Amino acid sequence: MVNANSSSVKSDFKNASQDLLYWYDKMARRLPWRLSPDNRKKGELPDPYHVWLSEIMLQQTTVPHATPYFLKFLDLWPTVQDLAAAENEDVMREWAGLGYYARARNLHKCAKVLAGLDKFPNTIEELLKLPGVGPYTSAAVGSIAFDLPVAPVDGNIERVISRLMTISGDGSAAGWAEDKKEITARVQELVPARSGDFAQAMMDLGATVCTPKTPNCMICPWVESCLAKKEGNPEDYPAKPKRKPQPIRKGLAFLAICDGQVLLQRRPDSGLLGGMLMPLSSDWAEGREYVVLEEAPIGADWKHVGQARHVFTHFALHWDVYVANLEQKPDLEGEWIKLEYAMEAGIPTVGKKALKLV
Ligand code: ADE
Repeated sequence: MVNANSSSVKSDFKNASQDLLYWYDKMARRLPWRLSPDNRKKGELPDPYHVWLSEIMLQQTTVPHATPYFLKFLDLWPTVQDLAAAENEDVMREWAGLGYYARARNLHKCAKVLAGLDKFPNTIEELLKLPGVGPYTSAAVGSIAFDLPVAPVDGNIERVISRLMTISGDGSAAGWAEDKKEITARVQELVPARSGDFAQAMMDLGATVCTPKTPNCMICPWVESCLAKKEGNPEDYPAKPKRKPQPIRKGLAFLAICDGQVLLQRRPDSGLLGGMLMPLSSDWAEGREYVVLEEAPIGADWKHVGQARHVFTHFALHWDVYVANLEQKPDLEGEWIKLEYAMEAGIPTVGKKALKLV
């Protein structure tokens, strides 16, 4: 598990923060929510609304995927007050494609709290009180937006520090949980005065150099101090426990089509995909077989057109998709949406996968 002696972190890695900042000053990625190191050195700080919004989006996905969403949100809602005043439905629609709708609901809830405050919270304690803000986001926003002396630790930063200090799991869940705590504690000891740039530099290093599979050690600012590099096997760090295969749930989707329109229903506000428009469906269950006519919302000539597959956090869905072309709109609750607009209607990715089959 832990190789280095924790009490000697500062002496072992005393130049590490400055080496990283030196690299970041030249190599920092230009990102729309980011202030350049030059501007930060002049004493400027980024807009905390931008930092918070980007962090919530980036918990979910990568920088290239999140960037157009971030720009669209700012275009629609330039201030946190604008976002707070938006219709929940609009926020959910714009979030579609970023996944995990509980985050979008918390984002909107948090915007309403923020809009009611005199200023953006600028201590870790205050940030932690916000909906959807936990230890990672509070440290990310605290350091990037306010230069608070903290370091956020996400999966990329865990990997980078695991290699730098050869702190790895022993392959068990308990061992990795212990070592994650160790990494979080030890990285705090490296935090320099420019904590916001340091946090972002570690993010950039993890994304562009110290990558999971083939780290590019030859261009790494930590090549001299990295203990895993000295051992010769940086890609073996961290030894995370193997994930259990996801359980598979099955279900049937029913695309009722009439007059070029498809019937969608809004899901209940709470729970998975809460408040989103989705095709009609049976329940989703593990180890169950379905009889189409028993599950179908109406009697019709349902034709099987394929299977949509989607991975959620706790299970994978295999959704068999049936289509019926109807002469008349049946008496069913829901919204009829023109097929050509359905992809832009704020339907979650899993719903789009089913719709793509028609
Ligand atoms: N990943 C998570 N937060 C990030 C940020 N602020 N910049 C770049 N990558 C990130």
